[in-house]
Amino acid sequence: MSPEQLRRYLNYYQDLGVKNIYRRAAANPIQPAPMPMPVELPPLEPAGDTLAKISEDIGDCRRCRLCEGRSKIVFGSGNEKARLVFVGEGPGADEDAQGLPFVGRAGQLLTQMIENTAAKEGIPIRRPDVYICNVVKCRPPENRAPQPDEMEICGQFLSRQLIALRPRAICALGSTAAKALLATKDGVTRMRGRWHKWRDIPVMVTYHPSYLLRAYNQNAKREAWEDLKTVLHFVYD
Ligand code: URA
Repeated sequence: MSPEQLRRYLNYYQDLGVKNIYRRAAANPIQPAPMPMPVELPPLEPAGDTLAKISEDIGDCRRCRLCEGRSKIVFGSGNEKARLVFVGEGPGADEDAQGLPFVGRAGQLLTQMIENTAAKEGIPIRRPDVYICNVVKCRPPENRAPQPDEMEICGQFLSRQLIALRPRAICALGSTAAKALLATKDGVTRMRGRWHKWRDIPVMVTYHPSYLLRAYNQNAKREAWEDLKTVLHFVYD
């Protein structure tokens, strides 16, 4: 439209009594309409992640109902350069009180299992040489198994821990750890004694030490010792 055409156009509307006009944004077939700004989400696995950063991100966590009954968040403990990581289910009463994984009766058995098997097999490692953590970091009430949503929410931090640690192998203790890492519905009896994979990291499934504490599980104990021997040789030979 020429300036003269525009002037006549505006005069016409003025004559009709129209006092205000509004300019519509020009439709431009080349430039698409501006998109809404994308929301910046933090990456699930930040580059250069560290255990300290993960712990900081967990903070005073209120992401699920398990925060209501916990005393301390049990992040994990051990060697940050460990070649072997053990993953349990979740803190019990002793762990909740101390903020450390596997420090109660089941923990003492786990320590014995690691240290006695390593000594017998001539592998020079002690418990502080490995890293130990759990699927959920807060104690479930009455020591019940963690629920799927709790495992999923806390699972992002377990994944980040495992990626930051980059161990040569993972040992999943019991069915909750096996389910969390391997998305399986199979029980430990079916899964144990064989290698599986979490991403590209070999995973050995074995019995949870609490299960082994029950006196009638002599056979399971023997099997768990065999599993541990396999893992230790795989990682440290
Ligand atoms: N049982 C677990 O699964 N984890 C612990 O830390 C203690 C007992």
